[in-house]
Amino acid sequence: MNTDEHRLIKEIILELQDLDVNYGGIQALKQVNLTIQKGEVVTLLGANGAGKSTTLRAISKIVNPQSGAILYNGRNITRRQAHEVVEMGIAHSPEGRRVLAKQTVLDNLLLGAYIRSNQAEIKADIQQQFELFPRLAQRRHQLAGTLSGGEQQMLAIARALMSKPKLLLLDEPSLGLAPAIVLEIFSIIENLRGSGVTILLVEQNANLALQIADRGYVLEAGSITLTGIASDLIHDERVKKAYLG
Ligand SMILES: Nc1ncnc2c1ncn2[C@@H]1O[C@H](COP(=O)(O)OP(=O)(O)OP(=O)(O)O)[C@@H](O)[C@H]1O
Ligand SMILES: [Mg+2]
Repeated sequence: MNTDEHRLIKEIILELQDLDVNYGGIQALKQVNLTIQKGEVVTLLGANGAGKSTTLRAISKIVNPQSGAILYNGRNITRRQAHEVVEMGIAHSPEGRRVLAKQTVLDNLLLGAYIRSNQAEIKADIQQQFELFPRLAQRRHQLAGTLSGGEQQMLAIARALMSKPKLLLLDEPSLGLAPAIVLEIFSIIENLRGSGVTILLVEQNANLALQIADRGYVLEAGSITLTGIASDLIHDERVKKAYLG
């Protein structure tokens, strides 16, 4: 088989099957089905409260689904624990840049590598993060809480990358950031895609997200209502009306 034929055969890295998530009485996800192929950037769009973060939390096992299944590389991970899915190669950069404010940039990065033990490799990967995020290199000994919003977002992504993920879950990386920083972060996401990381991107900035993504899904009140390739979604009247202003 030549390389072109290889490219035609898409491998599925993640599959959500009929996923239901409830918080107490509230059903946050209803029968969600979603598929991501290796190497893709897939974006999940939706209004506030639609269930985007819940979808990421279900995948990274911060919340447990009531029913349905999560398959990762064909393995059923529905009942796995959070640390197990990190070990399997899934990293989650959560909403609101949850960095440890009282720890330095360096310590936050080391924390991201908690599942790993090879110190030489960890050191090399910290260096790699500093190349990807030069702003963090200059601030390696600064307390994370004193970083700007954009820098904290970069740290949250860099920390997620320290577990060497194959699948990166990014929750609203552009939220609250100035346009120039947003572009900087999106160009880093482009680089990551180039390095072979598969990305599930939750974004309020649908326009930017659809420009970078291969495909997209629209969540409305916990249900997927629309899916397609990004270049189609960007011209879809429903998407335009609801998410592209
Ligand atoms: N811990 C929780 N307990 C109770 N309800 C919750 C909890 N977390 C989320 N919810 C509810 O679940 C629904 C989906 O929330 P979720 O955070 O997934 O939305 P979202 O699409 O990420 O929204 P946003 O764009 O505002 O971040 C909302 O109605 C929310 O109030
Ligand atoms: Mg959210």
